[in-house]
Amino acid sequence: MKVAIIYTSVTGNTRDLVDTINQIFLRHSFNVEVFSVTQFPYLNQLNRFDAIVVGTYTWGDGDVPMEMKELFHAFEKQDVKSVTTGIVGTGDSFYPKFCGAVDEFRDMLYVQTNLAATLKIELVPQLLDLSRCERFVMSMILRIERMQEERKKQDRFLYS
Ligand SMILES: Cc1cc2nc3c(=O)[nH]c(=O)nc-3n(C[C@H](O)[C@H](O)[C@H](O)COP(=O)(O)O)c2cc1C
Repeated sequence: MKVAIIYTSVTGNTRDLVDTINQIFLRHSFNVEVFSVTQFPYLNQLNRFDAIVVGTYTWGDGDVPMEMKELFHAFEKQDVKSVTTGIVGTGDSFYPKFCGAVDEFRDMLYVQTNLAATLKIELVPQLLDLSRCERFVMSMILRIERMQEERKKQDRFLYS
């Protein structure tokens, strides 16, 4: 089972969030590879992963940060229907489009992939956000397991 978290963070809030998500996956015995988007080496092979969590802050007027655009377009261009995905982000509700980049990714991932969950956090994750992070990871895990079952069923059908 291959799971990746691909994220970007300038001031550290989103990095804290993906660290929390990673810890929860670990507690559930899922080994996750964490990549900063600028060092992600598999942009052309997204479907080498069973599941991908994207982590992003929001920039400008509800915009996807520049460094995330290549990843965004990679999801749009590739056949990633069977990749289970989740999108998490931090933002500041002072801005009119709170976590607008999460919304942009959510709409695209819903069409392109097997989108399981979305999570928006106000600036830095607080203790109170932990249960929301837990629920996010549980939704991902349930969906990953369901997808695995589907694959097994298809294989049994094809090779019977
Ligand atoms: C110039 C600028 C524009 C921003 N625009 C938005 C926005 O439209 N919506 C939002 O929710 N947050 C916005 N933010 C807030 C950041 O997304 C937020 O501080 C985030 O937690 C930063 O993440 P990071 O610490 O991982 O870099 C903006 C911040 C800056 C500096």
